[in-house]
Formats: sequence, C-alpha cells, structure tokens
Amino acid sequence: MVAENESSVELSCITFSDCLREVNWEEASTVFELAPLGRQKREPEKLKRAFEASYAVIVVYDSGKLVDMGRALCDGEYQAAIYDMVVLPEYQGKGIGKEMISRIFKKLPVENIILYSVPGREGFYMKCGFRKMRTAMAKLNPFMSDQDSGYL
Ligand SMILES: CC(C)(COP(=O)(O)OP(=O)(O)OC[C@H]1O[C@@H](n2cnc3c(N)ncnc32)[C@H](O)[C@@H]1OP(=O)(O)O)[C@@H](O)C(=O)NCCC(=O)NCCS
Repeated sequence: MVAENESSVELSCITFSDCLREVNWEEASTVFELAPLGRQKREPEKLKRAFEASYAVIVVYDSGKLVDMGRALCDGEYQAAIYDMVVLPEYQGKGIGKEMISRIFKKLPVENIILYSVPGREGFYMKCGFRKMRTAMAKLNPFMSDQDSGYL
C-alpha cells in the first residue's frame, strides 16, 4: 500500500494510470535509463510500440511527472507475463512497485503469470507473491546468455 513516509519524496501526489495517451515516450525512456533497467537505451518509439502492444499497463505520475511504469503480455485466456517494471531510484522502496504489480494482477484474467527478474530483484517479486520455478527455461539474447549476466 502506498502511503506517505518520512523520506525525501512526498507520495501524496502519486497517481496510477492505465492510459498511454498522455505518456511522453522520451520521458519514459529516461525513466528506464535512470531506474535503471537494461544496458541499452530504450528508443522512445520502440517503447511506445511495446507498451501499446501489451495487455495491461501501469503508468505512475508524481504531480504530472512520469516516475514509474510496467506492463504485462497476456493471451486473455490462459497465460500472462510481466515485463519492464521500472521505478525511479528516489521512488524505490516505498511500496509503489508492489502497488503497480497488484494493479496489473487485477487486469489479468488468468491465473498463470510468469516473469524473469533482473538479478538481485528476486526478493521484490517474492514479496509480490511469485515463487521460483523448477522447470523455467528461456532462449535469450547473447548478453543475457552470458554466464556473467546472472540470468542463467
Ligand atoms: C524492482 C523495483 C521495480 C521494485 O520497486 P519498489 O517500488 O522499489 O519496491 P517496493 O517498495 O514496492 O517493495 C515491495 C517489497 O519488496 C521488497 N523489495 C524491493 N526490492 C527488493 C530487492 N531488490 N530485494 C529484496 N526485496 C526487495 C521491499 O522491501 C518490500 O518489502 P515489504 O513489502 O516487506 O515492505 C524497483 O526497485 C526498480 O525499478 N528497480 C530498477 C529496475 C529493475 O530492476 N526492475 C525490475 C525488472 S525485472
């Protein structure tokens, strides 16, 4: 649950949206860079297409400034996958990520929801109710396939 706390960021002006019409995709790209998520810059146009092609999205604003976002793919009947959960550093650790996941869950009409975590963020997803799988497998790009990346 998002609530005000004693940290430097005041959370009373935080709003959650599932509408992409107002998103400034340059601003969104910067959020990915600062969070950070991924090694490569997210091109605004690609980011826009990816979010628009998603089944469920969440965008978080602080007094109109885009500060966090996330999305899920889904077939509408059986399966879903969560991607691209990003919270700006100064907003991390305040319950916003968990609230975003909870809101995405409500939009997914399926019981099977998968994801892969950035190494080191597994604890966050476990707090959101995810459990490690015994049989999960993936075919990944060269960077993620590298043993040093921490994914395999
Ligand atoms: C991962 C991320 C989305 C989490 O969002 P957040 O708003 O900071 O997380 P919350 O404050 O909602 O944390 C919810 C719970 O998870 C815990 N948690 C958060 N990050 C954690 C971590 N890295 N390891 C273990 N636990 C963690 C919190 O302590 C909290 O526990 P509580 O419910 O017992 O209080 C955010 O840190 C982020 O954007 N990181 C950079 C980008 C990234 O790596 N995204 C993940 C892509 S897979």
